[in-house]
Amino acid sequence: MKPKASRMCETFTAKDGRKVILRSIKWEDLDNCIDFINSLVEEGAEILRDTKVTREEEADWLGARLARIEKGQLIDVVAEVDGEMVANSEVEKRSGFMSHVGYVGIAIKSGYRGIGIGTKLLQTLAEEAKKAGLKILVLDVFDINKPAKALYTKMGFKEAGKIPRGIYKKGKYIDLIRMTQEL
Ligand SMILES: CC(C)(COP(=O)(O)OP(=O)(O)OC[C@H]1O[C@@H](n2cnc3c(N)ncnc32)[C@H](O)[C@@H]1OP(=O)(O)O)[C@@H](O)C(=O)NCCC(=O)NCCS
Repeated sequence: MKPKASRMCETFTAKDGRKVILRSIKWEDLDNCIDFINSLVEEGAEILRDTKVTREEEADWLGARLARIEKGQLIDVVAEVDGEMVANSEVEKRSGFMSHVGYVGIAIKSGYRGIGIGTKLLQTLAEEAKKAGLKILVLDVFDINKPAKALYTKMGFKEAGKIPRGIYKKGKYIDLIRMTQEL
């Protein structure tokens, strides 16, 4: 898989009129990445991470991520509004007999949701994944995450299975839903 996503850049106008740039992640995003992920942890978003990151942890994470993009193992598309990174999304290529499968992750910062950024990011990820030769996209979503399930269903993902009580968050079990899309 060629790292085509690392060179992609396009703009679109969100539903509220804001100009959004979609581009690949870069080293200069480090400070933005820290604020971004910590804001999601702070609000208790339905993501796997439950603790804030330190600058050192995030630098390690971003360095490893850029290396995986270079090797063609990862597609990463961020959304930028007024110079701030407000969303991050990815398709991580599986290996071996699952090399045709990509695992999707996506998160939009609070204050930038419901204006079409998630839709546009998923469209872009699917296009880039297709160009890279992937055939199937897979993701996991908390069963209680209605906005995410609505977005994925709208984009053609179908429920493929469930891990009952796959998530334990704040003293409660939540089912984890697996969804897939054929490219
Ligand atoms: C889930 C998430 C990625 C959706 O992204 P988004 O940019 O808000 O989505 P969009 O504005 O493109 O909306 C896409 C569709 O999702 C649905 N949707 C969006 N917000 C919704 C809400 N609050 N309630 C129900 N459905 C909603 C709608 O069907 C919408 O389609 P429409 O605009 O044609 O009606 C975003 O809310 C997010 O990042 N949440 C926090 C982190 C997270 O949950 N990540 C996913 C982990 S699996």
